[in-house]
Amino acid sequence: MSTVKNIFEDARLMLEQVNAFTTTNKEELEQFRIEYLGSKGKIKQLFAGMRTVAREDKRAFGQLANSVKQAAEQKVIQLREALESAADQHIEIPDLSLPVDNEALGSRHPLSITKNKICQIFAQIGFTIVEGPEIEDDWHNFTALNTPEDHPARDMQDTFYIDKGANPAMLLRTHTSSVQARVMKSQEPPIRIVVPGRVYRNETISARAHAQFHQVEGLYIDENVSFADLKQTLYYFAQEMYGKGVKIRLRPSYFPFTEPSAEMDVYWGLENENDYRITKGTGWLEVLGCGMVDPAVLDNCGIDSQKYTGFAFGMGIDRQAMLKYQIGDIRMFFENDVRFLRQFSSAF
Ligand code: DAH
Repeated sequence: MSTVKNIFEDARLMLEQVNAFTTTNKEELEQFRIEYLGSKGKIKQLFAGMRTVAREDKRAFGQLANSVKQAAEQKVIQLREALESAADQHIEIPDLSLPVDNEALGSRHPLSITKNKICQIFAQIGFTIVEGPEIEDDWHNFTALNTPEDHPARDMQDTFYIDKGANPAMLLRTHTSSVQARVMKSQEPPIRIVVPGRVYRNETISARAHAQFHQVEGLYIDENVSFADLKQTLYYFAQEMYGKGVKIRLRPSYFPFTEPSAEMDVYWGLENENDYRITKGTGWLEVLGCGMVDPAVLDNCGIDSQKYTGFAFGMGIDRQAMLKYQIGDIRMFFENDVRFLRQFSSAF
């Protein structure tokens, strides 16, 4: 009888010990598991003691021994999970020597792709890329470029003035031509530059016009630069930009800072309704303004117009990007909707 009592006693004690056990150490937990649940463990022995139990008590003892076993198994599971989640919470220090994950990179903006393409074409024939300030003074934007205060050509561009009363007045540049004047003042010919950048005009915003847009300006000044050089350079550009079979034409035009002045059209074709619309039924698309730098502009900027001649050109980036990617609304460039932006590859 006493053995039976003892064995019940042992089992109850074991249950208490199991329930009371705790650890935050993996090895200790494993020791506990082997001690109780191992093939020679305490619980095995407990069940082995079953044979000493009287028949009428076997059922009760079996239940007790089973509850010890379940408690031990539960304990192991519970402590193991606690240990694992504690390990998860440790901040893992990444291997800082691993290469950067390129997948997180975004794609290039369609305007950047187009701008880079234009600049790259001119860089191949020796033009240097220069940038200038977007907040400009009246002198560099207008006066130096042969467009003094009362000149009617100022009406060609609606200007955002920042401080009209200052001397010179401060404004948001209306064209990248302003950088021509900056470079001519600070560098000796030969000068061969392209100037990409953002420009601003006080225009009503619509699908086809915006108050901010982008231009690339070009300037070449040296001895004996001729109109033939201008034409050949622009023809080379058009071939690289629109394909070898491209047709171009130069139409006489007027700009205050060039004489003679011209506009260059490329032949787009008249194959469908859309072509009629974008070329206004002519098949030709105007892509840039250009001309021989007016000697007065050279003199304004400290370059000897007796010795040097030059050509200049200026083109919009936005419209060329719209044509290339068939984008119908200029405002999409500035909304930065990722669904729009993700569609452009960074091919160039
Ligand atoms: N600045 C002119 C514009 O914004 C474009 C232009 C025309 C630039 C003729 C030039 C040029 O350098 O020679 O409309």
